[in-house]
Amino acid sequence: MPHRVIAIDGPAGSGKSTVARRIAQALGLTLLDTGAIYRSLALRAREQGVDWGDGPALARLCASLDLRFRLEGEKDRVLLDGRDVSDAIRTPEISRGASQVSALPEVRTALLGRQRRFAEEGSVVAEGRDIGTVVFPSARPKIFLSASPEVRAGRRHAELASAGQRVSLEEVLREQVSRDAADAGRSAAPLRAAADAITVDTSGLEIDEVVARILALVAAADAGR
Ligand code: DC
Repeated sequence: MPHRVIAIDGPAGSGKSTVARRIAQALGLTLLDTGAIYRSLALRAREQGVDWGDGPALARLCASLDLRFRLEGEKDRVLLDGRDVSDAIRTPEISRGASQVSALPEVRTALLGRQRRFAEEGSVVAEGRDIGTVVFPSARPKIFLSASPEVRAGRRHAELASAGQRVSLEEVLREQVSRDAADAGRSAAPLRAAADAITVDTSGLEIDEVVARILALVAAADAGR
C-alpha cells in the first residue's frame, strides 16, 4: 500500500507549523516541514557566498544539502550536515532569503524529488505552500489554513517576542504583507489552495480546535466521505 500524505498548506502565521506538528504527533506520522528546506538552502547559500538570486548555483547547492528532521517533544529540529540549525533558519534575514530562493523555478525543481522521497520512507504530514497543488497532488485530505493578516502578524510577533527578538507589530505586519505578495504572486508554484483543498480559517480558533477539526477531516477522508 502506498504511504499516506496529509497536506497542510497556508501562509505564514496561519498556524500551519504548530498544527502540522500536532497532527503528526496525534497520528504517529512523520512531519515534513518543507519551509525548513527552503530556509536551510538560504542559510547554506549565505554561508557559502552564493547569491539568493543565482538559480543555477542554488540548484547545485540543493543536490548536496544533507538535511534531516527530528521531532523532539515540542521542537521540530532541523539538522543540516548533522548541525542543529533549527534557530539559525528562523531569523528575519533567513526568512527573506527563503522567500527569495523559493521563487526560483530551478530551486523548486531541484527540491521536488527530495520532498517526494520523504514520503517513500513512510506516511507524512507535509506542510508548506504548494504541497496540495504540486508536491503531493494525491494527498488526502488537503487542508488550506488561513487567518486574517492582523491575526497572523500578532501570532508571529508573539513568537518572536518569546524568542527574545524585539520588533514592532507594525514591522512584522509590513514584512508579512510583502512576503505574502511575493509568495502568492510568483509564477513558480504560487501560494494558493488546491481545487480540492478544504480551507480552515483559524482566526477565531484555539489551536486545539483547529487540530480537532483537521483530525475529523482526516477520519472523514479515511471513511471515504
Ligand atoms: O513556511 P515557512 O515560513 O518556513 O517558509 C519559508 C519560505 O519558503 C516562505 O517564504 C515560502 C517558501 N516556501 C515555499 O515556497 N514552498 C513551500 N512548500 C514551503 C515554503
